[in-house]
Amino acid sequence: MKDHLIIFDTTMRDGEQSPGAAMTKAEKIRIAKALERLKVDVIEAGFPIASQGDFEAVQAVARLIKDSTVCGLSRTGDADIDRAHEALKDANSFRIHTFIATSPIHMQKKLRMEPDDVFEAAVRAVKRARNYTDNVEFSCEDSSRSDFEFLCRIVEATIDAGATTINLPDTVGYAVPEQYGDFISRIMANVPNSDKAVFSVHCHNDLGLAVGNSLSAVMHGARQVECTINGLGERAGNASLEEIVMAVRTRHDFFPCETRIDATEIMNCSRLVSTITGFPVQPNKAIVGANAFAHESGIHQDGVLKHRETYEIMRAEDVGLNSNRIVLGKLSGRNALRTRLKELGIEFSSEQDMNAAFKRFKDLADRKSEIYDEDLQALVSDAEVETAKEHIKLVSMRVHTETGETPQTHLTLSVDGNERAATSGGDGPVDAAYKAVEQIMGSGVQLQLYSVNAITTGTDSQGEVTVRLERGGRIVNGQGADTDILVASVKAYLNALNKILYPVHREHPQPAN
Ligand code: KIV
Ligand code: ZN
Repeated sequence: MKDHLIIFDTTMRDGEQSPGAAMTKAEKIRIAKALERLKVDVIEAGFPIASQGDFEAVQAVARLIKDSTVCGLSRTGDADIDRAHEALKDANSFRIHTFIATSPIHMQKKLRMEPDDVFEAAVRAVKRARNYTDNVEFSCEDSSRSDFEFLCRIVEATIDAGATTINLPDTVGYAVPEQYGDFISRIMANVPNSDKAVFSVHCHNDLGLAVGNSLSAVMHGARQVECTINGLGERAGNASLEEIVMAVRTRHDFFPCETRIDATEIMNCSRLVSTITGFPVQPNKAIVGANAFAHESGIHQDGVLKHRETYEIMRAEDVGLNSNRIVLGKLSGRNALRTRLKELGIEFSSEQDMNAAFKRFKDLADRKSEIYDEDLQALVSDAEVETAKEHIKLVSMRVHTETGETPQTHLTLSVDGNERAATSGGDGPVDAAYKAVEQIMGSGVQLQLYSVNAITTGTDSQGEVTVRLERGGRIVNGQGADTDILVASVKAYLNALNKILYPVHREHPQPAN
Protein backbone atom coordinates (compact mmCIF):
# COMPACT_ATOMS: atom_id res chain seq x y z
CA MET A 1 0.00 0.00 0.00
CA LYS A 2 1.38 3.37 -1.00
CA ASP A 3 1.03 6.45 1.19
CA HIS A 4 -1.55 9.05 0.26
CA LEU A 5 -0.06 12.31 -0.98
CA ILE A 6 -2.37 15.18 -0.03
CA ILE A 7 -2.83 17.70 -2.82
CA PHE A 8 -3.48 21.15 -1.37
CA ASP A 9 -4.50 23.64 -4.02
CA THR A 10 -3.78 27.30 -3.32
CA THR A 11 -4.70 28.76 -6.73
CA MET A 12 -7.38 30.92 -5.12
CA ARG A 13 -5.14 32.18 -2.33
CA ASP A 14 -1.45 32.24 -3.28
CA GLY A 15 -2.20 32.08 -7.01
CA GLU A 16 -4.51 35.02 -6.63
CA GLN A 17 -1.56 37.12 -5.45
CA SER A 18 -0.25 37.29 -9.04
CA PRO A 19 -0.55 40.82 -10.46
CA GLY A 20 -4.09 41.38 -11.69
CA ALA A 21 -5.30 37.87 -10.83
CA ALA A 22 -7.71 38.90 -8.04
CA MET A 23 -10.92 36.90 -8.46
CA THR A 24 -14.53 37.72 -7.76
CA LYS A 25 -16.76 35.49 -5.66
CA ALA A 26 -18.44 34.08 -8.79
CA GLU A 27 -15.06 33.27 -10.30
CA LYS A 28 -13.87 31.56 -7.12
CA ILE A 29 -17.01 29.47 -7.06
CA ARG A 30 -16.38 28.31 -10.63
CA ILE A 31 -12.78 27.40 -9.86
CA ALA A 32 -13.72 25.67 -6.61
CA LYS A 33 -16.23 23.45 -8.41
CA ALA A 34 -13.60 22.52 -10.99
CA LEU A 35 -11.09 21.71 -8.23
CA GLU A 36 -13.63 19.52 -6.47
CA ARG A 37 -14.14 17.60 -9.72
CA LEU A 38 -10.37 17.30 -9.99
CA LYS A 39 -10.57 15.73 -6.51
CA VAL A 40 -8.02 17.91 -4.77
CA ASP A 41 -7.91 17.09 -1.07
CA VAL A 42 -7.74 20.66 0.21
CA ILE A 43 -8.89 23.86 -1.49
CA GLU A 44 -7.38 27.01 0.02
CA ALA A 45 -10.14 29.41 -0.97
CA GLY A 46 -8.66 32.66 0.28
CA PHE A 47 -7.65 34.86 3.16
CA PRO A 48 -10.90 35.78 4.92
CA ILE A 49 -9.61 38.77 6.89
CA ALA A 50 -8.07 40.34 3.78
CA SER A 51 -11.35 41.94 2.68
CA GLN A 52 -15.10 41.60 2.94
CA GLY A 53 -15.05 40.32 -0.65
CA ASP A 54 -12.64 37.52 0.15
CA PHE A 55 -14.54 36.63 3.31
CA GLU A 56 -17.72 36.21 1.26
CA ALA A 57 -15.91 34.23 -1.43
CA VAL A 58 -14.41 31.80 1.11
CA GLN A 59 -17.78 31.48 2.83
CA ALA A 60 -19.53 30.74 -0.48
CA VAL A 61 -16.94 28.11 -1.38
CA ALA A 62 -17.17 26.58 2.11
CA ARG A 63 -20.95 26.28 1.80
CA LEU A 64 -20.81 24.77 -1.67
CA ILE A 65 -17.97 22.25 -1.68
CA LYS A 66 -18.73 18.81 -0.28
CA ASP A 67 -15.93 16.53 -1.43
CA SER A 68 -12.78 18.56 -0.62
CA THR A 69 -11.69 20.20 2.62
CA VAL A 70 -12.00 23.99 2.37
CA CYS A 71 -9.21 26.00 3.95
CA GLY A 72 -8.76 29.67 4.82
CA LEU A 73 -5.50 31.44 5.60
CA SER A 74 -4.92 33.58 8.66
CA ARG A 75 -2.03 35.31 10.36
CA THR A 76 -1.56 34.55 14.04
CA GLY A 77 -3.75 37.32 15.48
CA ASP A 78 -7.02 36.41 17.22
CA ALA A 79 -9.10 38.47 14.79
CA ASP A 80 -7.58 36.68 11.79
CA ILE A 81 -8.33 33.24 13.20
CA ASP A 82 -11.84 34.15 14.28
CA ARG A 83 -12.57 35.60 10.85
CA ALA A 84 -11.24 32.50 9.11
CA HIS A 85 -13.45 30.33 11.29
CA GLU A 86 -16.47 32.53 10.64
CA ALA A 87 -15.99 32.14 6.88
CA LEU A 88 -15.37 28.40 7.02
CA LYS A 89 -17.69 27.15 9.72
CA ASP A 90 -20.51 25.96 7.40
CA ALA A 91 -18.23 23.67 5.38
CA ASN A 92 -18.59 19.92 5.31
CA SER A 93 -14.92 19.77 6.23
CA PHE A 94 -12.68 22.76 6.88
CA ARG A 95 -9.15 23.65 7.90
CA ILE A 96 -7.70 26.80 9.46
CA HIS A 97 -4.24 27.57 8.12
CA THR A 98 -2.27 29.96 10.28
CA PHE A 99 1.23 31.21 9.55
CA ILE A 100 4.04 33.41 10.78
CA ALA A 101 7.52 34.07 9.41
CA THR A 102 10.38 32.29 11.17
CA SER A 103 13.50 33.42 9.29
CA PRO A 104 15.78 36.00 10.96
CA ILE A 105 15.36 38.46 8.08
CA HIS A 106 11.54 38.27 8.14
CA MET A 107 11.32 38.40 11.94
CA GLN A 108 13.70 41.37 12.24
CA LYS A 109 12.85 43.43 9.17
CA LYS A 110 9.21 42.63 8.47
CA LEU A 111 7.58 41.56 11.71
CA ARG A 112 10.00 43.47 13.99
CA MET A 113 9.49 40.71 16.54
CA GLU A 114 11.88 38.73 18.70
CA PRO A 115 12.02 34.96 18.03
CA ASP A 116 10.46 34.23 21.43
CA ASP A 117 7.48 36.43 20.58
CA VAL A 118 7.08 34.72 17.21
CA PHE A 119 7.21 31.36 19.01
CA GLU A 120 4.53 32.45 21.46
CA ALA A 121 2.30 33.93 18.74
CA ALA A 122 2.49 30.69 16.75
CA VAL A 123 1.56 28.46 19.69
CA ARG A 124 -1.24 30.77 20.76
CA ALA A 125 -2.65 30.91 17.22
CA VAL A 126 -2.67 27.14 16.84
CA LYS A 127 -4.41 26.73 20.21
CA ARG A 128 -7.03 29.29 19.27
CA ALA A 129 -7.66 27.61 15.91
CA ARG A 130 -7.91 24.24 17.67
CA ASN A 131 -10.85 25.60 19.65
CA TYR A 132 -12.71 25.75 16.35
CA THR A 133 -11.50 22.62 14.57
CA ASP A 134 -9.15 19.67 14.90
CA ASN A 135 -7.85 20.36 11.38
CA VAL A 136 -5.20 23.05 11.84
CA GLU A 137 -2.22 23.78 9.65
CA PHE A 138 0.72 25.85 10.80
CA SER A 139 3.20 27.34 8.30
CA CYS A 140 6.64 28.70 9.09
CA GLU A 141 6.92 31.36 6.39
CA ASP A 142 10.41 31.50 4.82
CA SER A 143 11.27 28.25 6.58
CA SER A 144 14.05 27.43 4.11
CA ARG A 145 16.00 30.47 5.35
CA SER A 146 15.18 29.94 9.03
CA ASP A 147 17.51 28.86 11.80
CA PHE A 148 17.30 25.07 12.05
CA GLU A 149 17.19 24.85 15.88
CA PHE A 150 14.53 27.55 16.13
CA LEU A 151 12.47 25.85 13.44
CA CYS A 152 12.59 22.51 15.25
CA ARG A 153 11.54 24.21 18.49
CA ILE A 154 8.57 26.02 16.95
CA VAL A 155 7.44 22.96 14.96
CA GLU A 156 7.52 20.77 18.07
CA ALA A 157 5.60 23.35 20.12
CA THR A 158 2.93 23.93 17.47
CA ILE A 159 2.37 20.18 17.10
CA ASP A 160 2.01 20.00 20.87
CA ALA A 161 -0.47 22.86 20.65
CA GLY A 162 -2.56 20.84 18.17
CA ALA A 163 -1.33 21.54 14.64
CA THR A 164 -2.12 18.52 12.49
CA THR A 165 -0.23 19.73 9.41
CA ILE A 166 3.15 21.45 9.49
CA ASN A 167 4.03 23.35 6.34
CA LEU A 168 7.63 24.33 5.62
CA PRO A 169 7.49 26.81 2.73
CA ASP A 170 10.30 27.85 0.47
CA THR A 171 8.69 31.28 0.34
CA VAL A 172 11.27 33.03 -1.82
CA GLY A 173 12.15 30.09 -4.08
CA TYR A 174 15.67 29.86 -2.66
CA ALA A 175 15.99 26.12 -2.04
CA VAL A 176 17.51 23.50 -4.32
CA PRO A 177 16.12 19.95 -4.48
CA GLU A 178 18.77 17.88 -2.67
CA GLN A 179 19.16 20.39 0.09
CA TYR A 180 15.41 20.97 0.54
CA GLY A 181 14.64 17.24 0.65
CA ASP A 182 17.38 16.76 3.21
CA PHE A 183 16.05 19.74 5.20
CA ILE A 184 12.57 18.16 5.39
CA SER A 185 13.88 14.80 6.56
CA ARG A 186 16.21 16.40 9.14
CA ILE A 187 13.33 18.42 10.61
CA MET A 188 11.16 15.32 10.79
CA ALA A 189 13.99 13.38 12.41
CA ASN A 190 14.81 16.11 14.95
CA VAL A 191 11.30 16.97 16.09
CA PRO A 192 10.31 14.33 18.68
CA ASN A 193 6.55 14.52 18.00
CA SER A 194 6.83 14.73 14.18
CA ASP A 195 4.78 11.53 13.82
CA LYS A 196 1.73 13.48 15.12
CA ALA A 197 1.53 15.75 12.07
CA VAL A 198 1.58 15.57 8.29
CA PHE A 199 4.58 17.44 6.87
CA SER A 200 3.79 19.69 3.96
CA VAL A 201 5.78 21.67 1.43
CA HIS A 202 4.98 24.89 -0.40
CA CYS A 203 7.53 25.97 -2.97
CA HIS A 204 7.87 29.11 -5.05
CA ASN A 205 9.43 29.01 -8.47
CA ASP A 206 11.93 31.88 -8.49
CA LEU A 207 14.74 29.57 -9.65
CA GLY A 208 12.44 27.33 -11.67
CA LEU A 209 12.81 24.64 -8.98
CA ALA A 210 9.41 24.64 -7.27
CA VAL A 211 8.28 21.28 -8.66
CA GLY A 212 11.75 19.71 -8.26
CA ASN A 213 11.94 20.90 -4.66
CA SER A 214 8.43 19.66 -3.86
CA LEU A 215 9.13 16.23 -5.33
CA SER A 216 12.43 15.96 -3.53
CA ALA A 217 10.59 16.74 -0.28
CA VAL A 218 8.06 14.01 -1.08
CA MET A 219 10.94 11.54 -1.44
CA HIS A 220 12.11 12.65 2.01
CA GLY A 221 8.82 12.24 3.86
CA ALA A 222 6.54 15.17 3.01
CA ARG A 223 2.99 13.93 2.48
CA GLN A 224 1.26 17.15 1.48
CA VAL A 225 2.20 19.36 -1.46
CA GLU A 226 0.82 22.87 -1.82
CA CYS A 227 0.53 23.89 -5.44
CA THR A 228 -1.49 25.85 -7.98
CA ILE A 229 -3.09 25.21 -11.34
CA ASN A 230 -0.73 26.28 -14.15
CA GLY A 231 1.85 27.15 -11.46
CA LEU A 232 0.03 30.47 -10.98
CA GLY A 233 1.41 32.65 -8.21
CA GLU A 234 3.29 35.74 -7.20
CA ARG A 235 6.54 36.48 -9.10
CA ALA A 236 7.56 33.25 -10.88
CA GLY A 237 4.64 31.38 -9.36
CA ASN A 238 4.09 28.35 -7.16
CA ALA A 239 4.73 24.67 -7.82
CA SER A 240 2.44 23.53 -10.59
CA LEU A 241 -0.26 21.09 -9.48
CA GLU A 242 -0.49 19.29 -12.82
CA GLU A 243 3.28 18.71 -12.96
CA ILE A 244 3.42 17.30 -9.42
CA VAL A 245 0.43 15.06 -9.96
CA MET A 246 1.56 13.72 -13.33
CA ALA A 247 5.13 13.18 -12.12
CA VAL A 248 3.94 11.10 -9.18
CA ARG A 249 1.52 9.21 -11.40
CA THR A 250 3.82 8.65 -14.39
CA ARG A 251 6.72 7.62 -12.14
CA HIS A 252 4.69 5.50 -9.74
CA ASP A 253 7.62 3.07 -9.92
CA PHE A 254 9.70 5.69 -8.11
CA PHE A 255 7.44 7.67 -5.76
CA PRO A 256 6.26 5.93 -2.58
CA CYS A 257 2.86 7.62 -2.67
CA GLU A 258 -0.16 8.37 -4.83
CA THR A 259 -2.79 11.07 -5.12
CA ARG A 260 -6.55 10.78 -5.55
CA ILE A 261 -6.59 13.35 -8.37
CA ASP A 262 -8.78 12.68 -11.40
CA ALA A 263 -6.19 13.73 -13.97
CA THR A 264 -8.73 13.87 -16.79
CA GLU A 265 -10.00 17.12 -15.23
CA ILE A 266 -6.58 18.79 -15.46
CA MET A 267 -7.06 20.51 -18.85
CA ASN A 268 -10.47 21.80 -17.85
CA CYS A 269 -9.04 23.36 -14.67
CA SER A 270 -6.07 24.76 -16.52
CA ARG A 271 -8.20 26.51 -19.15
CA LEU A 272 -10.62 27.80 -16.57
CA VAL A 273 -7.91 29.32 -14.39
CA SER A 274 -6.21 30.85 -17.40
CA THR A 275 -9.46 32.36 -18.70
CA ILE A 276 -10.49 33.74 -15.33
CA THR A 277 -7.15 35.18 -14.28
CA GLY A 278 -5.97 36.35 -17.69
CA PHE A 279 -2.72 34.44 -17.37
CA PRO A 280 -2.19 32.54 -20.63
CA VAL A 281 -0.41 29.19 -20.48
CA GLN A 282 2.90 29.18 -22.35
CA PRO A 283 2.79 26.76 -25.32
CA ASN A 284 5.69 24.64 -24.07
CA LYS A 285 4.41 24.40 -20.48
CA ALA A 286 4.63 20.80 -19.26
CA ILE A 287 1.31 18.88 -19.17
CA VAL A 288 -1.05 21.74 -20.12
CA GLY A 289 0.82 23.75 -22.78
CA ALA A 290 -0.56 23.67 -26.33
CA ASN A 291 2.57 21.84 -27.51
CA ALA A 292 2.87 19.45 -24.56
CA PHE A 293 1.62 16.52 -26.62
CA ALA A 294 2.47 17.77 -30.14
CA HIS A 295 5.16 15.86 -31.98
CA GLU A 296 6.58 18.03 -34.73
CA SER A 297 9.77 16.36 -35.84
CA GLY A 298 9.54 13.63 -38.48
CA ILE A 299 11.54 11.17 -36.40
CA HIS A 300 9.23 11.63 -33.42
CA GLN A 301 6.06 11.42 -35.49
CA ASP A 302 7.28 8.26 -37.17
CA GLY A 303 8.15 6.71 -33.81
CA VAL A 304 4.84 7.66 -32.19
CA LEU A 305 2.85 6.29 -35.15
CA LYS A 306 4.71 2.98 -34.99
CA HIS A 307 4.56 2.64 -31.23
CA ARG A 308 3.21 5.42 -29.03
CA GLU A 309 5.54 4.81 -26.09
CA THR A 310 8.65 5.50 -28.21
CA TYR A 311 8.32 9.17 -27.41
CA GLU A 312 5.22 9.55 -25.20
CA ILE A 313 5.35 8.95 -21.47
CA MET A 314 1.74 10.09 -20.92
CA ARG A 315 -1.32 10.16 -23.14
CA ALA A 316 -3.05 13.42 -23.93
CA GLU A 317 -6.36 11.80 -22.91
CA ASP A 318 -4.92 11.10 -19.44
CA VAL A 319 -4.96 14.82 -18.69
CA GLY A 320 -8.30 15.44 -20.38
CA LEU A 321 -7.05 16.69 -23.72
CA ASN A 322 -9.59 15.55 -26.28
CA SER A 323 -7.66 16.93 -29.26
CA ASN A 324 -10.18 19.60 -30.10
CA ARG A 325 -13.28 17.48 -29.99
CA ILE A 326 -16.17 19.21 -31.74
CA VAL A 327 -18.90 19.33 -29.16
CA LEU A 328 -21.64 21.54 -30.52
CA GLY A 329 -22.72 23.34 -33.67
CA LYS A 330 -25.22 25.76 -35.11
CA LEU A 331 -28.16 23.43 -34.72
CA SER A 332 -27.47 22.51 -31.11
CA GLY A 333 -30.18 23.64 -28.76
CA ARG A 334 -30.33 24.98 -25.26
CA ASN A 335 -30.44 21.50 -23.71
CA ALA A 336 -27.36 20.32 -25.58
CA LEU A 337 -25.53 23.42 -24.42
CA ARG A 338 -26.68 23.00 -20.84
CA THR A 339 -25.66 19.33 -20.84
CA ARG A 340 -22.18 19.96 -22.24
CA LEU A 341 -21.61 22.86 -19.85
CA LYS A 342 -22.65 20.61 -16.98
CA GLU A 343 -20.11 18.03 -18.13
CA LEU A 344 -17.52 20.80 -17.96
CA GLY A 345 -18.62 21.57 -14.42
CA ILE A 346 -20.44 24.78 -15.32
CA GLU A 347 -23.92 25.32 -13.93
CA PHE A 348 -25.71 28.62 -13.82
CA SER A 349 -27.30 29.93 -10.68
CA SER A 350 -30.00 31.76 -12.66
CA GLU A 351 -31.89 31.34 -15.94
CA GLN A 352 -30.75 34.87 -16.81
CA ASP A 353 -27.10 33.70 -16.85
CA MET A 354 -28.05 30.62 -18.90
CA ASN A 355 -29.92 32.85 -21.37
CA ALA A 356 -26.92 35.14 -21.75
CA ALA A 357 -24.68 32.13 -22.42
CA PHE A 358 -27.14 30.64 -24.91
CA LYS A 359 -27.43 33.92 -26.81
CA ARG A 360 -23.65 34.14 -27.05
CA PHE A 361 -23.49 30.53 -28.14
CA LYS A 362 -25.94 31.17 -30.99
CA ASP A 363 -24.05 34.32 -32.05
CA LEU A 364 -20.80 32.35 -32.07
CA ALA A 365 -22.31 29.37 -33.92
CA ASP A 366 -23.46 31.75 -36.67
CA ARG A 367 -19.84 32.74 -37.23
CA LYS A 368 -18.06 29.48 -36.41
CA SER A 369 -19.41 26.12 -37.52
CA GLU A 370 -17.58 23.94 -35.00
CA ILE A 371 -17.70 24.80 -31.32
CA TYR A 372 -15.16 23.19 -28.98
CA ASP A 373 -14.96 22.95 -25.21
CA GLU A 374 -12.42 25.78 -25.20
CA ASP A 375 -14.95 28.00 -27.00
CA LEU A 376 -17.57 27.18 -24.39
CA GLN A 377 -15.25 28.12 -21.51
CA ALA A 378 -14.53 31.50 -23.12
CA LEU A 379 -18.18 32.03 -23.90
CA VAL A 380 -19.24 31.46 -20.30
CA SER A 381 -16.66 33.97 -19.10
CA ASP A 382 -18.00 36.47 -21.62
CA ALA A 383 -21.57 35.82 -20.50
CA GLU A 384 -20.54 36.42 -16.88
CA VAL A 385 -18.97 39.71 -17.91
CA GLU A 386 -22.21 40.71 -19.61
CA THR A 387 -24.42 39.89 -16.66
CA ALA A 388 -21.95 41.67 -14.36
CA LYS A 389 -23.42 44.87 -15.90
CA GLU A 390 -20.29 46.41 -17.29
CA HIS A 391 -20.42 50.20 -17.39
CA ILE A 392 -18.47 50.49 -20.64
CA LYS A 393 -19.51 48.33 -23.58
CA LEU A 394 -18.56 48.08 -27.23
CA VAL A 395 -21.49 49.02 -29.47
CA SER A 396 -19.82 48.91 -32.89
CA MET A 397 -16.46 49.17 -34.55
CA ARG A 398 -15.21 49.86 -38.07
CA VAL A 399 -11.59 49.33 -38.98
CA HIS A 400 -9.75 50.42 -42.11
CA THR A 401 -6.34 48.94 -42.95
CA GLU A 402 -4.48 49.15 -46.23
CA THR A 403 -0.86 48.46 -47.14
CA GLY A 404 1.17 51.62 -46.70
CA GLU A 405 -1.68 53.51 -45.00
CA THR A 406 -2.11 54.38 -41.31
CA PRO A 407 -4.83 52.10 -39.90
CA GLN A 408 -7.97 53.90 -38.74
CA THR A 409 -10.51 52.69 -36.21
CA HIS A 410 -13.90 54.24 -35.62
CA LEU A 411 -15.73 52.90 -32.63
CA THR A 412 -18.81 53.58 -30.59
CA LEU A 413 -18.97 52.74 -26.91
CA SER A 414 -21.86 52.77 -24.51
CA VAL A 415 -20.79 54.41 -21.24
CA ASP A 416 -23.46 53.98 -18.58
CA GLY A 417 -26.06 53.82 -21.33
CA ASN A 418 -24.83 56.88 -23.29
CA GLU A 419 -23.34 56.27 -26.70
CA ARG A 420 -20.05 57.98 -27.49
CA ALA A 421 -17.96 57.64 -30.66
CA ALA A 422 -14.34 58.36 -31.64
CA THR A 423 -11.98 57.81 -34.56
CA SER A 424 -8.26 57.32 -34.27
CA GLY A 425 -5.24 56.24 -36.26
CA GLY A 426 -2.46 54.13 -34.77
CA ASP A 427 0.61 52.01 -35.40
CA GLY A 428 -1.70 49.09 -36.09
CA PRO A 429 -5.46 48.54 -35.94
CA VAL A 430 -5.33 47.45 -32.28
CA ASP A 431 -3.30 50.50 -31.34
CA ALA A 432 -5.78 52.67 -33.26
CA ALA A 433 -8.71 51.01 -31.46
CA TYR A 434 -7.16 51.49 -28.00
CA LYS A 435 -6.41 55.13 -28.82
CA ALA A 436 -10.03 55.62 -29.85
CA VAL A 437 -11.21 54.10 -26.57
CA GLU A 438 -8.91 56.44 -24.67
CA GLN A 439 -10.20 59.46 -26.62
CA ILE A 440 -13.59 58.62 -25.17
CA MET A 441 -12.57 57.48 -21.69
CA GLY A 442 -9.36 59.42 -20.93
CA SER A 443 -8.68 56.88 -18.20
CA GLY A 444 -4.94 57.47 -17.74
CA VAL A 445 -4.21 53.73 -17.58
CA GLN A 446 -0.92 52.20 -18.70
CA LEU A 447 -1.06 49.10 -20.89
CA GLN A 448 1.41 46.63 -19.34
CA LEU A 449 0.67 43.54 -21.37
CA TYR A 450 -1.17 42.63 -24.56
CA SER A 451 -1.27 39.05 -25.81
CA VAL A 452 -3.35 37.11 -28.32
CA ASN A 453 -3.87 33.40 -28.20
CA ALA A 454 -5.86 31.15 -30.53
CA ILE A 455 -8.38 29.27 -28.38
CA THR A 456 -8.43 26.26 -30.70
CA THR A 457 -6.57 25.41 -33.90
CA GLY A 458 -7.42 26.60 -37.43
CA THR A 459 -7.98 30.04 -38.88
CA ASP A 460 -11.63 30.00 -37.77
CA SER A 461 -10.48 29.78 -34.15
CA GLN A 462 -11.58 32.44 -31.71
CA GLY A 463 -8.79 34.72 -30.64
CA GLU A 464 -8.49 35.21 -26.89
CA VAL A 465 -6.88 38.49 -25.96
CA THR A 466 -5.43 39.30 -22.56
CA VAL A 467 -4.48 42.80 -21.49
CA ARG A 468 -3.00 44.04 -18.23
CA LEU A 469 -3.68 47.64 -17.23
CA GLU A 470 -2.14 49.65 -14.42
CA ARG A 471 -3.37 52.84 -12.81
CA GLY A 472 -2.03 54.39 -9.61
CA GLY A 473 -0.28 51.13 -8.65
CA ARG A 474 -3.39 49.01 -9.15
CA ILE A 475 -3.13 46.24 -11.73
CA VAL A 476 -5.96 44.38 -13.41
CA ASN A 477 -6.18 41.83 -16.19
CA GLY A 478 -8.91 41.80 -18.81
CA GLN A 479 -9.87 39.20 -21.37
CA GLY A 480 -12.01 39.02 -24.45
CA ALA A 481 -12.67 36.32 -27.01
CA ASP A 482 -14.10 36.60 -30.51
CA THR A 483 -13.59 35.18 -33.98
CA ASP A 484 -12.47 38.73 -34.90
CA ILE A 485 -9.28 39.45 -32.95
CA LEU A 486 -9.81 43.21 -33.17
CA VAL A 487 -13.17 42.83 -31.47
CA ALA A 488 -11.54 40.47 -28.95
CA SER A 489 -8.84 43.10 -28.34
CA VAL A 490 -11.36 45.85 -27.62
CA LYS A 491 -13.45 43.52 -25.42
CA ALA A 492 -10.35 42.63 -23.38
CA TYR A 493 -9.39 46.29 -22.97
CA LEU A 494 -12.92 47.27 -21.92
CA ASN A 495 -13.10 44.30 -19.54
CA ALA A 496 -9.96 45.53 -17.78
CA LEU A 497 -11.07 49.17 -17.92
CA ASN A 498 -14.38 48.28 -16.26
CA LYS A 499 -12.49 46.57 -13.45
CA ILE A 500 -10.08 49.42 -12.90
CA LEU A 501 -12.59 52.26 -13.16
CA TYR A 502 -15.48 50.58 -11.33
CA PRO A 503 -13.76 48.22 -8.88
CA VAL A 504 -15.66 45.31 -7.44
CA HIS A 505 -12.48 43.25 -7.42
CA ARG A 506 -10.26 43.45 -4.40
CA GLU A 507 -7.24 45.75 -4.47
CA HIS A 508 -4.72 43.15 -3.38
CA PRO A 509 -5.59 39.82 -1.85
CA GLN A 510 -2.92 39.73 0.86
CA PRO A 511 -2.80 42.27 3.68
CA ALA A 512 0.61 43.41 4.93
CA ASN A 513 1.85 41.79 8.13
O1 KIV B 1 4.94 31.33 0.51
C1 KIV B 1 4.54 31.26 1.69
O2 KIV B 1 5.31 31.17 2.64
C2 KIV B 1 3.10 31.28 1.90
C3 KIV B 1 2.62 31.00 3.28
C4 KIV B 1 1.59 31.98 3.72
C5 KIV B 1 2.13 29.59 3.38
O3 KIV B 1 2.34 31.46 0.97
ZN1 ZN C 1 3.40 31.12 -0.97
